[in-house]
Amino acid sequence: MRLPGRSGRARPRPSVRPVRNARLQRRLVPAKTRLAFRGRTAPAGGRARLAAMQTLVADHPLIAHKLTVLRDVSTETPVFRALTDELVTLLAYEATRHIKVEHVTVQTPLTTADGVKLCRPKPLVLPVLRAGIGMLDGMARLLPKADVGFVGLARDEKTLVASTYAARLPDNLTGRDTFVLDPMLATGGTLESVFTMLAARGAASLTALCLLAAPEGLARVHEAFPDDYPIPVKVVSAGLDERLNERGYILPGLGDAGDRLFGEI
Ligand code: URA
Repeated sequence: MRLPGRSGRARPRPSVRPVRNARLQRRLVPAKTRLAFRGRTAPAGGRARLAAMQTLVADHPLIAHKLTVLRDVSTETPVFRALTDELVTLLAYEATRHIKVEHVTVQTPLTTADGVKLCRPKPLVLPVLRAGIGMLDGMARLLPKADVGFVGLARDEKTLVASTYAARLPDNLTGRDTFVLDPMLATGGTLESVFTMLAARGAASLTALCLLAAPEGLARVHEAFPDDYPIPVKVVSAGLDERLNERGYILPGLGDAGDRLFGEI
């Protein structure tokens, strides 16, 4: 019998990778958090203790393929929307890895079986208007019982500063895992504001799902939520791009995610 890992075949890669570029990794993700995700599963009845903040960039050929089609300027809205939906479901799988569960016993047709169910209080999913709406169905597919709030932030095109124009979410989020949906983590201003809003309401964890992240945005969020931050903070992205341009757009990016999902209005 061959021992696992001695077959000479490449080991299966994890479905997400911590940020890969070594220099960037050192800047963004301190050593103790870099590999924290590998092979970790949440124990029933609680959660694995996480170091804040984790940055996970998907490392899977299907995700890379779908992301490439999203980037393509010739991809039209219906395909862009469908692919975003699929990508988010794939990201959601990893983003929910440490969600709180508790032990249950169920009766099978033959006997009883130990299992788990999601803990209450229910998680909160928070799409950021408008582009985050395009990510909601993909997330709700995995977490159909989660509550859904909404938050709207507008970015001043000159200063790139984000200000909140709408927020519909519970005042009290004590004990609740929260999942922010925003396709583009560019300057990080929006995500910093939304995470701050959720933390102030008592959220138990802060997780963002995005299609693309820029190093500048990740660095800003990491600075705002350093490793001694009292609750787990995580960013799960389908890709990590090179940089922002002078207008705060991600390069090479995919353009304006809201326009590509819903049209230019
Ligand atoms: N928002 C977008 O939609 N695209 C970017 O590249 C940056 C912010």
